[in-house]
Amino acid sequence: MSGIRIAVFISGRGSNLEAIIDSIDRGQINGEIGLVISDRYKARGLKIAQKKGIESLYLGKKNYSDKYKRIDKTLQVLDDYNIDLIVLAGYMSIVNEKIVKKYRNKIMNIHPSLIPAFSGKGYYGSLVHEEVLKYGVKITGATVHFVDENTDTGPIIIQREVKVSDNETLESLSKKVLEIEHQILPEAIKLFAENKLIIEGRIVKRLTI
Ligand code: GAR
Repeated sequence: MSGIRIAVFISGRGSNLEAIIDSIDRGQINGEIGLVISDRYKARGLKIAQKKGIESLYLGKKNYSDKYKRIDKTLQVLDDYNIDLIVLAGYMSIVNEKIVKKYRNKIMNIHPSLIPAFSGKGYYGSLVHEEVLKYGVKITGATVHFVDENTDTGPIIIQREVKVSDNETLESLSKKVLEIEHQILPEAIKLFAENKLIIEGRIVKRLTI
């Protein structure tokens, strides 16, 4: 059985991209990364892709200042590269609804909290952990979910928790949550690639056979 073709959208560091690459290299995911798209020209993740010989592309305001032309170009490359699954791995732009509609339940996002807590507009990257620490919750974590038309509201695929200790710092919490992210994002992709995710409305179940 030939595997799925994945497009990974990034904006920066690309550690989740690395986790996906490692998982594919270990033979855990039945698929390959066909394309990496970054909305930031200088994203470290672009270099990671290039080193691995993965096709990569900057698609942002610098080369496509017109939003609608940018969306059309994105749709075109996704088509050209025969993409089955889009993975938002630290992608800080909102995916336009035209793309969401065409790839319904075929776009996954990793978010650094237990959605619906600390999610939605304005909650991204380390700002999420700052809010977690300010609020004083004792448990946080990470979520992989499908992307719908709103921010962080789509069907949840996997969540995993981490404890917030009394002497937690922004650095220690970010590190702990990132470790969890690097586990659950490849896990979710693996399940998708094996056709083991059953979506009923906003409920996602796993086929256990
Ligand atoms: C990750 O923590 C990811 O969950 C978060 O940005 C970081 C990217 O790290 N994403 C969001 O906040 C999206 N709302 P990475 O570039 O090293 O993968």
